Amino acid sequence: MPLVNTRDMFAGAYKGGYAIGAFNVNNMEIVQGIVQAATKERAPLILQVSAGARKYAKPIYLRKLVEAAVEDSGLPIALHLDHGADFEICKSCIDGGFTSVMIDGSHHSFEDNIAVTRQVVEYAHDRGITVEGELGRLAGVEDDVNVSDDNAMYTDPDQVEEFVNRTGVDSLAIAIGTSHGAFKFKGEPRLRFDILEEVSRRLPGFPIVLHGASSVVPEYVDIINRYGGKMDGAQGVPEDMLRKAASMAVCKINIDSDLRLAVTAALRRHLAEHPDQFDPRSYLAPARDLVAELVEHKITKVLGCNGKA
Ligand code: G3H
Ligand code: 13P
Ligand code: ZN
Repeated sequence: MPLVNTRDMFAGAYKGGYAIGAFNVNNMEIVQGIVQAATKERAPLILQVSAGARKYAKPIYLRKLVEAAVEDSGLPIALHLDHGADFEICKSCIDGGFTSVMIDGSHHSFEDNIAVTRQVVEYAHDRGITVEGELGRLAGVEDDVNVSDDNAMYTDPDQVEEFVNRTGVDSLAIAIGTSHGAFKFKGEPRLRFDILEEVSRRLPGFPIVLHGASSVVPEYVDIINRYGGKMDGAQGVPEDMLRKAASMAVCKINIDSDLRLAVTAALRRHLAEHPDQFDPRSYLAPARDLVAELVEHKITKVLGCNGKA
């Protein structure tokens, strides 16, 4: 099976009350760990690449890794651009074999967001590629843009129908209180499920995307802190909230920070316990194993997409 776009994945997820995991990839071990778990659980998969990942690994390496994952697993996998900043990067990814792109115009005015999103949709749909747009802004760090807690902007449900109708996007990322990174809440975690409900009432059957959805697995934070790291106060989205979102209109749940934590926890622990080892395979293999364990847990206990491939 070749790379797929997200259309059928989201249709199944919406109907079935589950979500597809969209995992950020930056290197071979991360791709392999994710794909190993998805293969075991027969889960459809979105592997997504940020501008930072493209800069780190070079686009061609990531694309070839994902193509290898498709061939190796036989799973329906979408290769998705995460937080495309403008038309040019979306075009470059589409021309380079991506099957899905996000155009993140959320920092623009409503009209400018519509204009750039519409431009991407026209280019993408002519080529069978699906497009995710964003309305509202997440707290925390959104790629290069720093958005502080104070000016986090929840999505305004009054805008969603017009945005979707005028742009033609296939899915919509909304801001309901999640944020990127490992420090998401200062006090009690709180998400605006009322906004999600209102958005889905206005857009029946339409797939919604949740960014900043790592749960910042406390066990990994503990391991990191125990073996020399410093991540006090790290906190993510509780898993029961993610399960609730997945049972509603949320069809795509973005996870990056949890993968980073898994890799870092495994590396720190391994190197501390085996100070004599210096072969990168000796510490990258346990990192890959922990990524696989994490993703299997996400698929079966949070997303509910096991057996849906
Ligand atoms: O949304 C942000 C993702 O976690 C990607 O982060 O830009 O550091 O690769 P990055
Ligand atoms: P986390 O930082 O919560 O993993 O969010 C990742 C994300 O939204 C990527 O677009
Ligand atoms: Zn994001």
